[in-house]
Amino acid sequence: MKGWMGKFRALFLLGSLSLILSGCGVDKLSALKPDGYGAELLYDLMILSIAIMIFVFIVVMAIYTFVLIRYRRKKGQEDFIPKQTEGNKVLEIIWTVIPIILLLVLAVPTVQAVFDLAETSSDEADIRIDVTSAQFWWQFDYAGEEISTSQELYIPKGERVYLTMKSADVIHSFWVPSIAGKMDTNPGDNENTMYLEAKEEGVYWGQCTELCGPSHSLMDFRVVVVSPEEYEQWVNDMKNADPEATPDTQVAQEGQEIFQNNCMSCHAIGAQPKGVGPNLTNFGDRAKVAGILEPTKENIKNWILNPNEYKPGNTMPANLVNEEEAGKVAEYLMQLKPSEITPESAQ
Ligand code: CUA
Repeated sequence: MKGWMGKFRALFLLGSLSLILSGCGVDKLSALKPDGYGAELLYDLMILSIAIMIFVFIVVMAIYTFVLIRYRRKKGQEDFIPKQTEGNKVLEIIWTVIPIILLLVLAVPTVQAVFDLAETSSDEADIRIDVTSAQFWWQFDYAGEEISTSQELYIPKGERVYLTMKSADVIHSFWVPSIAGKMDTNPGDNENTMYLEAKEEGVYWGQCTELCGPSHSLMDFRVVVVSPEEYEQWVNDMKNADPEATPDTQVAQEGQEIFQNNCMSCHAIGAQPKGVGPNLTNFGDRAKVAGILEPTKENIKNWILNPNEYKPGNTMPANLVNEEEAGKVAEYLMQLKPSEITPESAQ
């Protein structure tokens, strides 16, 4: 009896824990709240397969309960042996045909979706973006536009955006659960492709979903979905972003000089050649620094001084500049906002 109670208690604990955990999560990071073509396709398949599962479960449990009650050994009939039968053609056909039908109901839309999601090229002049993952950040290069961003991917609502994806180091995986399915990014020449088609404007979170090192959990990014007109304006603003533009404040100007002397061997601003570090053209739009910190001047300064404290395993060197210089660079970076179209305006 005691062992049974113990098991029950463990089950109860596990059950309530999973209930509590199911309440966790971010609104714009959920496959259960689809706002994109691919995500809706996958959501419908999930609902269909769960519905089939529930149907099978209910039917099996009903038969199970019926047999359990109807054919129990009854009092006074302990020695009764029921009529022995072997094989029943009708029953066997029924329980073979029903699963086949259920599998077909599931398989036809699944295969359709697989082919639909694999349509990752089109002849029209559409938006193509090269996605490059690295430990532990994302870069997005807009083909033909000479625009690069990191950590933030701007796309227009209602248009199909084609992605070509690869990794600069280990395998990562690109996932914006509210907009589309997920796709691995591989090192080497093995490029993967997929598309995004967002149905609502807004800011969505994406996440690396392949364990890729100590800061895997910090490897997130945002997808900013704006109207086609706003997207066009954003593209123009980004194209015109001048890496040499003089910042407004004296401190930021000094920060710019320090940045140019110490940081630009790895980082690019505007259409400068791709560095081994993130492109920082619109750094001022970021909602987080290092995937975890609020983008305040103090936090950015501390991050520049000691990156590994906040994002273990990343490749940015520590103490390239002193504390005063890091503060100035932080001020410079915070004012890098080339466009009025920002994640805030999209929300
Ligand atoms: Cu990149 Cu996990």
